[in-house]
Amino acid sequence: MRAVDLIQKKRDGGELSTAEIEWLISGYVDGSVPDYQMSAFAMAVYFKGMSMREVRDLTMCMVKSGDEIDLSSIPGIKTDKHSTGGVGDKVTLILAPLVASFDVPVAKMSGRGLGHTGGTLDKLESIKGFQIERTEEEFINQVKAINLSVIGQSDKLVKADKLLYALRDVTATVDIIPLIASSVMSKKIAAGADKILLDVTVGDGAFMKTVEEARELAKTMVALGNEVGRQTVAVITDMSQPLGCAIGNRLEVLEALDIMQGKGRSDVTQFICDLAKIMLDLAGVKASDEVIYDHLVNGAALNKFHEMVLAQGGDLDDLYRPSRATYTTDIVADEDGYIEALSALEFGLFAMRLGAGRSVKTDKLNYETGIVFHKKVGDVVKIGDNVATIYSDKILDEKEVTEFKKNVKINREKSVPQEIIEIIS
Ligand code: URA
Repeated sequence: MRAVDLIQKKRDGGELSTAEIEWLISGYVDGSVPDYQMSAFAMAVYFKGMSMREVRDLTMCMVKSGDEIDLSSIPGIKTDKHSTGGVGDKVTLILAPLVASFDVPVAKMSGRGLGHTGGTLDKLESIKGFQIERTEEEFINQVKAINLSVIGQSDKLVKADKLLYALRDVTATVDIIPLIASSVMSKKIAAGADKILLDVTVGDGAFMKTVEEARELAKTMVALGNEVGRQTVAVITDMSQPLGCAIGNRLEVLEALDIMQGKGRSDVTQFICDLAKIMLDLAGVKASDEVIYDHLVNGAALNKFHEMVLAQGGDLDDLYRPSRATYTTDIVADEDGYIEALSALEFGLFAMRLGAGRSVKTDKLNYETGIVFHKKVGDVVKIGDNVATIYSDKILDEKEVTEFKKNVKINREKSVPQEIIEIIS
């Protein structure tokens, strides 16, 4: 076979056979198919798409490109959760210990943030001492001992995705359903959990800009999971505004701690409870809304989070310390009304420029900077109300404050945000 023929076949709208996909992926991993041919192939997929059979083959070839984690020695139904990316998304920090507090093993590998989106690993590393690098044995032993571990993705897992995702990132081929679905599901399948909850985000801060696209991505991933015997449920969730109040690593950890002490906003608290119900249901645990809420706010989830921080070398004294950002700038409302929009994309980029995120993979993060919103979409505001506080390491100039305010849209009419838009199982 020749890569050029496979690129041409896809470019002309053809369907690649299983053998052709296997050849291409194994060649890419062993270096015989170079980056320039793989990027041409990714672009051909971008324009011509893939059949479900091709997506399935691609996913399974990617799974086989590296190690597969065997969680079978951990008793019980192992659960995992993955988000397709967002701004202010601290869900894993809360949901994972909440579910684990019901004695359900949560064995999770997470990723880093890039561009306007954040990553769970960066948030965990903002906790002094927290280790995200664990051997497979340590990971499994910790889940056996406390039902919970969140670690970085091992280098050996889904090697093809590691290479391909970096390539897609610099060749404008990230936001395409067959490649996102195979990337996410190859990692989930290789990571070994029995049951998977997928959070498919939609809105300007997400890869999927419309509910129709998000639905197609969700259905593709659910089908991939279910076909290999991993029961998978997807929720389509709103990412047109940041999730919760905080954007930025330490600030998000602090918000997660607040939520686990019953001090979070009611909408985000409810959202986490709704996700927990689905995940518990997948694990065969029937818990009422009241019981789940109780676990979230009465210390059960928080204790589990503390156990994980301690088990992974984190410092519990440092955990609750406020952000050490040098400057705080309050943004106040200039008019009366309701918050109509807070662009997740724009504020994600703003926080990235403050140092909370990376514009390129090699950027070093500032864990302390970011934004805390005091008002969210649908909230009433009066002139002079504090809408948000910006945590920065330099004094913001007028242009930056104006830029921030431009993205706080206030209207006379109240809009009602909806966190979970649809559930696909
Ligand atoms: N998250 C992933 O893991 N892969 C993608 O392609 C997009 C989001």
